[in-house]
Amino acid sequence: METLLFDAKNEGSVEAVANILKNGGLAAIPTETVYGLAANAFDAEACANIFRAKGRPGDNPLIVHICDTAMLSEIVSEFPEGAKRLAEKYWPGPLTMIMKKSEKIPDVTSAGLPSVAVRFPAHPVAREIIEKAGIPLAAPSANLSGSPSPTTFEHCTHDLMGRVDAIIDGGSCSVGVESTIISFAGEKPVLLRPGYITLEQLCEVLGEVEVSHAVLEKLEEGEKVLSPGMKYKHYAPKAQVTLIKASSEDYIKFVNEHAGKGVFALCFDEEAKMLVVSTVTYGSKFSDAQQAEHIFEALRKIDESGAEKVFAHSPKASGIGLAVYNRLIRAAGFDVIEI
Ligand code: TXA
Ligand code: MG
Repeated sequence: METLLFDAKNEGSVEAVANILKNGGLAAIPTETVYGLAANAFDAEACANIFRAKGRPGDNPLIVHICDTAMLSEIVSEFPEGAKRLAEKYWPGPLTMIMKKSEKIPDVTSAGLPSVAVRFPAHPVAREIIEKAGIPLAAPSANLSGSPSPTTFEHCTHDLMGRVDAIIDGGSCSVGVESTIISFAGEKPVLLRPGYITLEQLCEVLGEVEVSHAVLEKLEEGEKVLSPGMKYKHYAPKAQVTLIKASSEDYIKFVNEHAGKGVFALCFDEEAKMLVVSTVTYGSKFSDAQQAEHIFEALRKIDESGAEKVFAHSPKASGIGLAVYNRLIRAAGFDVIEI
């Protein structure tokens, strides 16, 4: 398949991509979190093609993106009170809410679940494309299944060239990790995936929020989960990654003691110059927002570096750091050393 490449800065490119989507095509588009691989959410065939292009298991549902809360009436059968309050405060933005789905959402989009995930992105290019296409867009992250989510146009072309109809460059993603996901499909709101909108912020609006244990812990073999995406080993680098929970001082000491061929450190900016192994940095130790912005890019760099063994310095597991920790612990296959 020929993949057309566009730059959002060029006149007419947003319209061209919107038309491709309106006509049942697939396009990778920028959002503020990560790039998404979009198709018409109401078109079962187009959504089936998303799964094919990504190599995504069919039981892992897609997020439906809107550009106006008025679009919700066609997507969900209920807009719960708590979700309304969160929408007022955090939409448009990096927050996905799961609600009971309407009849109009095909089974492939929601992977057969009675619920649907909805997000109103803040990125101007994403919003303009949805507006111009005039339809909600189903979009998972625009990576091949199993590789890190793409935060730049180059990541998308690397993964999807020849597999989709179009890719549009909207610059690099400012948030850098996928949206926070909260479910309103059950009795109580449950945090399924931490992101830039923090647990602390959700609790401020809703009072209590349950945290799915899959956010921080490994699932048992065959365990039933609320979010099918949790089952899969996401963000899996080629190298063997171990997450090190330690102060900067202890981390540096530990890594330097374990230096050797193929050993890399995935560390904070401030630590790199003190390490005797090759390093890839993912932001300042003082900024969890910066760590989120750079973590997926750093994981891709690690893959390209030929690293065999990686010691990753753990972020703190609170605020936006919880999102970074959640991604890294999966990349590490839950292999953690606490010093
Ligand atoms: O920031 C984001 O959310 C990005 C951009 C493109 O918007 N999208 C994204 O999509 O991360 P994806 O497909 O990579 O992750 C969606 C997650 C999956 O883990 C999936 O299992 C879960 O959302 N999900 C979707 N619909 C669900 C539902 N009805 N119930 C439970 N989990 C659901
Ligand atoms: Mg994904």
